[in-house]
Amino acid sequence: MHFILRYGVLAPSTHNTQPWRFALRDDGVDVYSDETKVLPIIDPMGRQRVMSAAAALLNIRVAAHAFGLKTHEELLPEPERNPALIARLRVVGKRRTSARLLALRDAIVARRTNRQPYSQRPVSYAIADDLFDVAAREGAWLLRLHPRAKAPLADIITAADRAQFADKGFRNELSQWLVPSGSGRADGIPFAKKEYGNRMPIGVQMMVRTFDIGDNVAAKEIALAKGSPMLVVLGTAGDTRRDWIAAGLAMQAIWLKAMTYGMSASFLNQALEIPTLRDQVFALVDERPNPQLVMRFGYGPDVAHPTPRRPLESALMA
Ligand SMILES: Cc1cc2nc3c(=O)[nH]c(=O)nc-3n(C[C@H](O)[C@H](O)[C@H](O)COP(=O)(O)O)c2cc1C
Repeated sequence: MHFILRYGVLAPSTHNTQPWRFALRDDGVDVYSDETKVLPIIDPMGRQRVMSAAAALLNIRVAAHAFGLKTHEELLPEPERNPALIARLRVVGKRRTSARLLALRDAIVARRTNRQPYSQRPVSYAIADDLFDVAAREGAWLLRLHPRAKAPLADIITAADRAQFADKGFRNELSQWLVPSGSGRADGIPFAKKEYGNRMPIGVQMMVRTFDIGDNVAAKEIALAKGSPMLVVLGTAGDTRRDWIAAGLAMQAIWLKAMTYGMSASFLNQALEIPTLRDQVFALVDERPNPQLVMRFGYGPDVAHPTPRRPLESALMA
């Protein structure tokens, strides 16, 4: 299980905060969200923190299955006493591995948030349908935005970026998690100084959200949203901790599945971090309840700089 947890820590997390902790048990592992990794401005409720920890849980499940272990998960086993304990995963026997599981396991290692532009190669309906099923199995809904919805979404994203970057608190919070490459820090989002030169730090900050440091960021964001081969919104029936866990499991499950099709993904999430704009996204998705994530999928170039991770040992509880 200790070995399998190494797959857990490769999960994506908001600002690469890596908000998870693990307690090894004789028969498995308890997965916690790390409630000390707070982002009060963009994530006051801890929604994204729980989603990130749930993504680690999905990795652990997939790796365990790929290595021939059958598992059972109990979500929120102690909801009142210990809400940070998001799941108790137990090994309950053996199972056969498969080419599909091995491909998903390898996708855990290869996955990166890919903020670069993607090619115009379309994403087929068959792949999209597959991703809808994968999300549904984790208890979330996934909607592919109609091309007509891309322009309004781009407008909402632009409004969100403007509002967030006008907010000093937001800029401060983000800058605490932006790390120059080679700094040796094992969390946060690394950026390469040479690539962004004198546009730092605000240019780099914009890039994190939009991967675009051009002069006319807003206009390019619109191009980005419109140009993405597949924009999706992922959401849940409710908006409780249990729903956030489902959203995190679904996010990671569709991402790993997409990787097996040779695809990349990144986030356009800022609209969901501002309540009034979240309501506008709600209108865009035919009033499906509780949109949790906006992501784009497509076929992109390789990512040159992987993000670092803290050593697993620092996430282990005594
Ligand atoms: C719930 C969640 C929300 C995220 N939101 C954004 C976002 O709005 N913009 C962005 O560029 N990356 C976003 N990320 C990606 C993280 O920055 C990324 O996972 C982290 O830096 C680790 O890098 P990696 O995914 O390449 O391993 C998000 C990740 C998670 C799990």
